[in-house]
Amino acid sequence: MVQRETWATRTGFILAAVGSAVGLGNIWRFPFVTGEGGGAAFLFVYLLFVALIGFPAILAEFVIGRKTDRNPVGALVKYGGSTWKYVGGMFIVTGFVILSFYSVVAGWFIRYFLEGLRGSYASRVEVYGGDTAAMFGELSTGLDAFVLHTLFIILTVGIVALGIRRGIELAVKVMVPSLIVLLGGLAIWAFTLPGGSDGYAYYLSPEFNVIAANWMTLLPDAAGQAFFTLSLGMGVMITYASYLGEDRNLATDGITIIGFDTGIAFLTGLAVFPIFFAAGIEPGEGGAGEIFVSMTEAFATISGGHVLGILFFGTVVIAALSSSISLLEVVTSYVIDEKGVERWKAAAGMGAVIYLLGVPVTYDLVFLDLLDGFADGVLLVLGAFLMMILVGWIAPQAAVDELEKGIGDLGSIGQLWIWVLRIPILVVLAISLYLGVVGYVEFLSTDFAGWLGENL
Ligand code: PHE
Repeated sequence: MVQRETWATRTGFILAAVGSAVGLGNIWRFPFVTGEGGGAAFLFVYLLFVALIGFPAILAEFVIGRKTDRNPVGALVKYGGSTWKYVGGMFIVTGFVILSFYSVVAGWFIRYFLEGLRGSYASRVEVYGGDTAAMFGELSTGLDAFVLHTLFIILTVGIVALGIRRGIELAVKVMVPSLIVLLGGLAIWAFTLPGGSDGYAYYLSPEFNVIAANWMTLLPDAAGQAFFTLSLGMGVMITYASYLGEDRNLATDGITIIGFDTGIAFLTGLAVFPIFFAAGIEPGEGGAGEIFVSMTEAFATISGGHVLGILFFGTVVIAALSSSISLLEVVTSYVIDEKGVERWKAAAGMGAVIYLLGVPVTYDLVFLDLLDGFADGVLLVLGAFLMMILVGWIAPQAAVDELEKGIGDLGSIGQLWIWVLRIPILVVLAISLYLGVVGYVEFLSTDFAGWLGENL
């Protein structure tokens, strides 16, 4: 049995966990899902979800991981018994599905970074007739997207195969402050745009009758986005906490991770929505291309936009890498622990399969919806639901005892945590899951079936 690694430094865990959470979920997915959900209505439900469900749920993953010292499959079995291996197996599948499309999207960010190296964003947009949406349409599929997907998977596999933790910790230390400064600067610039101020009303002032009328889509979408952006529901936080010593205060670590993650997503919205309104673009129209369209609008007009754009897209690529390695780490640690395969072989083998699964996305974006909808609408919510059952109902006392290590006696707060998991959270997750499944089946039977009908 190989000696299990632990974090190289005291801050290693928190840096890696923040690195996993902060990624394309914040910069790419958050703005377009918010746009599709009507802006402030979505933001409101999402923030509630993160605070009331994300926080208790991240603690649940932490205690399972730290208590068992295992990859997610081994951890669930050790924590709950052998039938839980199927749930662990589902986590591995989720990792496969998410990383497959994640890599293609990360490839788009590499592409926009490279566009900036070729010339100013203004001049690059001219190549596509001055239309940023047309530019995204051209760049998002085809041979170039395929090549960059390949490159991104190779980078991810390389880092995981070498197990270079230190390098990752350093990258996150640079990436997170850079993102905050860049997005903050963009948000301030966006504030000065004529016509942009409508973006704030759209993004920040929820109408409660709109929420009430649309809760059946807002709830599952907020659930999917919350779990995706926090890297919850598939065992990343189990895996990272499994390398952890008993002296860490898991509650404050959880708050730190959620704080950075939510703050960066919020800041992205503060930049994106005023830019949309100033440019006269309807949010929610652009789908997966929103961040690219809004940011190239910005970088093409802003003075110094050329350099800023290169920095922005480059930083997001680093953010994507510190997330993608966590996805591959789950899959790899499972193969290493349970099958005794060497690290580099496990990483390369799994990476190859994931890569193939992502290839269709570079051909047509309908496959992005196919994979993303399944992962976020169904798998992550189901994974979190089952984990809440495990911690809330099957082994609650072990969870409270574990949480108390590094914090001290929690008294009735520990019981409160368990009861929140047991009933309210399980009920909300069950409803979210039901609605998510219904929504996904509808996608399959309408949009996807339609696509198949036209193309086969
Ligand atoms: N949280 C990551 C992001 O926001 C994506 C991710 C999801 C990573 C699930 C790991 C597990 O980009």
